[in-house]
Amino acid sequence: METFGCQMNERDSEIMAQLLGEHSYLQTDKPDKADVVVVNTCSIRGKAAHKAYSCFGRYKKLKAKNPRLILAVTGCVAQQDGASLLERMPYIDIVMGPQAIYALPSLVAAARREKKPQVATDLSVDFIIPPFLPSLADGAPHKRFITIMQGCDNFCTYCVVPYTRGREISRSFTDIMAEATQLVNQGIQELTLIGQNVNSYGKGRDGRQSKSFPELLRSVAAIDGLQRLRFTTSHPKDLSEELMRCFIEIPSLCPHFHLPVQSGSNIILQRMNRKYTIETYLDKVARLRKYRPDIALTTDIIIGFPGETDDDFAATMQVLDKVRYHGAYSFKYSDRPNAKAADFPDKVTEEIKSERLARLQVRQNEISLALKQVEIGKTVEVMVEGASKAPDNQWSGRTGANQIVNFACAAKLTPGQLFVVKIVDACQNSLRGQMI
Ligand code: SAH
Ligand code: SF4
Ligand code: F3S
Repeated sequence: METFGCQMNERDSEIMAQLLGEHSYLQTDKPDKADVVVVNTCSIRGKAAHKAYSCFGRYKKLKAKNPRLILAVTGCVAQQDGASLLERMPYIDIVMGPQAIYALPSLVAAARREKKPQVATDLSVDFIIPPFLPSLADGAPHKRFITIMQGCDNFCTYCVVPYTRGREISRSFTDIMAEATQLVNQGIQELTLIGQNVNSYGKGRDGRQSKSFPELLRSVAAIDGLQRLRFTTSHPKDLSEELMRCFIEIPSLCPHFHLPVQSGSNIILQRMNRKYTIETYLDKVARLRKYRPDIALTTDIIIGFPGETDDDFAATMQVLDKVRYHGAYSFKYSDRPNAKAADFPDKVTEEIKSERLARLQVRQNEISLALKQVEIGKTVEVMVEGASKAPDNQWSGRTGANQIVNFACAAKLTPGQLFVVKIVDACQNSLRGQMI
C-alpha cells in the first residue's frame, strides 16, 4: 500500500488493507515481494498529483520483473482521470475511485481472471458507506480514525474534492457507534472522527441521518474507556454554538480545533465561495475561546489565489496575528481540473506566490514558537505515541492540544499510556518535558 493525501485516504488504505487481508493477502513493505500494489492517490494540488504519476512509473518496472503483479490505482487522481489513465499508462490493472474501495478484492480477482484492466470510477449520488467493522491487526495500537462522512457539497472554487469524492453523505450513526465501540473495547484510547466537513454531519441529502455532529460527539464520548476524542476537518460556516459548547461539556474532547480560514480578505473569500466573511470567522474564534480559553487553533491558508493583491495578502497576514494559531498549513494556489478558479483571470505569478508564502511561514513560525514557549513551566497530560527518534529512553507523546512532547523515561512505555509531564523547553516543532 502506498498512500498519499489526507486522513480520508489514510483510513481508506487501512480499510483496503483489511479487505485484502480477509482474502488471504498479507501486507509487505517490500514492493518487489508484492502480488498486489495499491497506490492511493491525492489530487488536491498539482504537486500531489505529480507525485502519484511519478510513482506509477516505478511500479511499471516492477511489473516487468513480476508479471503476476496487479497495480491498482485508487483515490482522488484515479477518480479524476478514470479510464483515461489507462491510455497514458496501459500497465495499470485497476483504476478505482474512493467510493469503490470496498470492491477492491473483487476487482483484483476480476483483473487476474479476465487479464484486462478494471475501471470503477462511477460516482453514485446514491452511494452509502457500507457497514464495516475494523480489525486491529495493523496500525497504531492506541488510536484510530473513524470515517463519519464522505464527499463534499461546498464547491470552494479552488477545490477538486467535490469532483473526486462526490456528494456529501453522512455515514449511519449506528455503524459509526458499532465501529467506535468495538475499537474502544479492544483497547483503543483515542478516536478521531474524520470527514471533509464534519460540522455538517447529519445533513445527509436523504434524511436517513437524524443525528447532528454534536449528538454524535456526545454519543462516542460516552463509550466507556475512551480517553481522547478528536475530529477533523471543519468548515467555519458550519461551526455552531452547540458544537462550541461540546468543548466544555465533553471532558474527553481534546482542546484542539482545525479551522481552515484560507484567506483574510473578504473579496478573496467570496471568490473562493467560502460563504463566510473574515469578521464572522474571527467572531467564531472569539466565541470558541470564550468556551475553551486554552483551545489550540490550527488552520489552512491558500497563498496567491487568482486576483490576490498585496492588500488581500496583507489581510491574510493580519489574521495570523489576530488569531495566533498554534500551527498553519499554507499552500501556493494550484489550478485543479473541474475547479472553477482554474478559469479565473489574474493568476498570481509563481515568484509572488513563493515570496508571499515564505513571508507568511516566517511569521507563523514565530507565533508557533512563542505559543510553545508560554507552555514552559506548565504541567500537561501527555499520551504516549512511541519511542522518540532522539537517543535511548526518549519518548514522544501528544498533549490534548495536539502538541508533541518529548521526554525521558527509563521504563518501557506503551503507546496510549497517559502521563503528567512538566514542560521544560520549547522547540519549533515540539516541547520538551520531564515526567512527574
Ligand atoms: N475539507 C477540508 C480540507 C480540504 S483539502 C476543508 O475544507 O478545510 C486541505 C487544504 O488544501 C484546504 O483547506 C486548502 O487550504 C488546500 N487546498 C485545496 N485546494 C487547493 C488548491 N487548488 N491549491 C492550493 N491549496 C489547496
Ligand atoms: Fe474542498 Fe471546500 Fe469541500 Fe473543503 S469544504 S473539501 S476546501 S470544497
Ligand atoms: Fe487529496 Fe482526495 Fe484527500 S484530493 S486531500 S486525498 S480528499
